[in-house]
This record gives sequence, structure tokens and C-alpha cells, in this order.
Amino acid sequence: MEPAFRSLLYDRPDLYDLVFPEPDQTRAEMCGEAFKRYLRLPPASLVDIGCGNGRLVESLSPSIPECWGVDLVESNIAYARSRGRAGVFHVGDMRTVRLGRTFDVVTCLGNALSYMLADADLEKAITTFATHARPGSLLILDLLNARCYLDGDGFRERIEGRIEAPEFTADSVAVHSLDRAARRMRRTRTWRIAGQPDVVDDAEYRLLYPEETRGILEAGGFELLAMYDNREFRDSDLAGSVTSEPDCAGMRGRKLYVFAMMP
Ligand SMILES: C[S@@+](CC[C@H](N)C(=O)[O-])C[C@H]1O[C@@H](n2cnc3c(N)ncnc32)[C@H](O)[C@@H]1O
Repeated sequence: MEPAFRSLLYDRPDLYDLVFPEPDQTRAEMCGEAFKRYLRLPPASLVDIGCGNGRLVESLSPSIPECWGVDLVESNIAYARSRGRAGVFHVGDMRTVRLGRTFDVVTCLGNALSYMLADADLEKAITTFATHARPGSLLILDLLNARCYLDGDGFRERIEGRIEAPEFTADSVAVHSLDRAARRMRRTRTWRIAGQPDVVDDAEYRLLYPEETRGILEAGGFELLAMYDNREFRDSDLAGSVTSEPDCAGMRGRKLYVFAMMP
């Protein structure tokens, strides 16, 4: 199936790490902390669904013997494979992919679930997660917190950014709009790259409330363990406070980090 979104960073997966550098490996650390908190034993297998260019798989694979990654966009998977990133990579749609096995951990991070705009698509994605879990498997998600965008002060109509690296320099202007009734945010981002025509990205994201998230997980057979608005497992009232300034995607500090188990 053709993606319903367009992004320079998926056409050029090498740029993704430049635009969203993770020198401190905070997501891998968050996952490691979750394994200690919620699993009896260190995981032996993990599948990262919506794995992008494979960087989470790569950072977790030294400690997890079997790491798999799935992404809808072929260029992401081709890049992950061509970089020799450790792991088994597949092109697949989180609504339909079936890998024929289960894993100790299923992850879906970097707002990948937010591409599921309709309730039916969200349900299908959760069914995919459940199909690849077994009793005791841990599910780790991040998604865009509707409370922050719709009820709090997380929404920014315009976000400007600049990427300056030896291999790539560009300015970005992201313009956002909200469809409150459908709980969706649309982003059109224009990249101004010296000596090249502008490149325009377009994507729409579903915003989810904490209680709605609990509902779809429970309907899919998962038991919610915990939900945070930060990667450090700090308790909060999830009232929609912004927890950090936005990155050039406009989403940092506006997310829910969700941990659930297949009972
Ligand atoms: C913002 S990127 C995050 C990538 C990666 N998880 C990370 O955090 O570095 C979101 C990813 O979701 C993928 N995606 C979107 N819709 C998908 C679908 N239906 N099935 C699988 N992957 C999907 C996109 O191709 C993209 O790689």
C-alpha cells in the first residue's frame, strides 16, 4: 500500500538521524528501564513496528539476540539493510503485517502509531501488536497526546528549524492545522535546501487522549501498566502540560509513553 504521507526524511533516511540526533540514546535507555520494570527476564526478542531507518533496532540489538524491524516505507527498510544495521527488516503495514511468530517485546515509537488516523486503522494496528505478542510480552508505544494539543498549549501553528551539518544544510518551516472534531493534526513542512528546489512534506497525525489509549489497548487484549508524558518515568497528572520545547517536527514534549502487557 502506498503511504498517505510524504517526507524528505523517509525518501532520504540518512537525513533522519541528522535531523533527530539521539546522542544520548534516550529511547533505548527508556526501553531498557521498561524491561527491568515490567519483564521478569531480559527480553530475547523484540519487533519494532514503524521502525524507520532501523536505528532503535540497531541500538537494542547488542543486548537482545533477535531484533526485527518493520516499516511501510521501502526506502527506510532498504537503508536499514544497506547500512548493515543489525536485525531482520521487513517492509510491512502495521495494519496487516503478519510475521508468523511472537516476540517478548513489541515497540512502536516515534509517533508511528499516530499515522493511524481512523479508529478502524488503530484497532487493526493494535491487533497486529497483539498477534505478535504472547502472554507476558511487553508493548511500548509513544503517541501524540490529544490533551496537550487540543486542551493544553502544545499546539504551534508554525515551527521553524535549521539543520546545519557538513553533509546537509537546510531551513524548515512547518505549518500545522488542527481538526478538533476528528482529533487530527496536519503538518505541511517545507525544506529550503541551498541550490535545490524546495521539498514539501505532508502528513496527518491522529491525536489520542490517555483514557482513549487505555480503551483501545484493553479492547485489543492488552493490560495497561503505565503511561507517562516523559521518557524518564516521572509521574504526572497527564493533564497535557508541555514537557519540553518542540523539535523541528513540533512533537517533542507533547507525547504519551505507554507500557502495556499481554496478560
Ligand atoms: C517518525 S518515524 C519514526 C521511525 C522510528 N520508529 C524512530 O522512532 O526512529 C514514523 C515511521 O512510521 C512509519 N509508518 C507509518 N505508517 C506505517 C504503517 N502503516 N505501517 C508501518 N510503518 C508505518 C513511517 O514509514 C516512519 O518510518
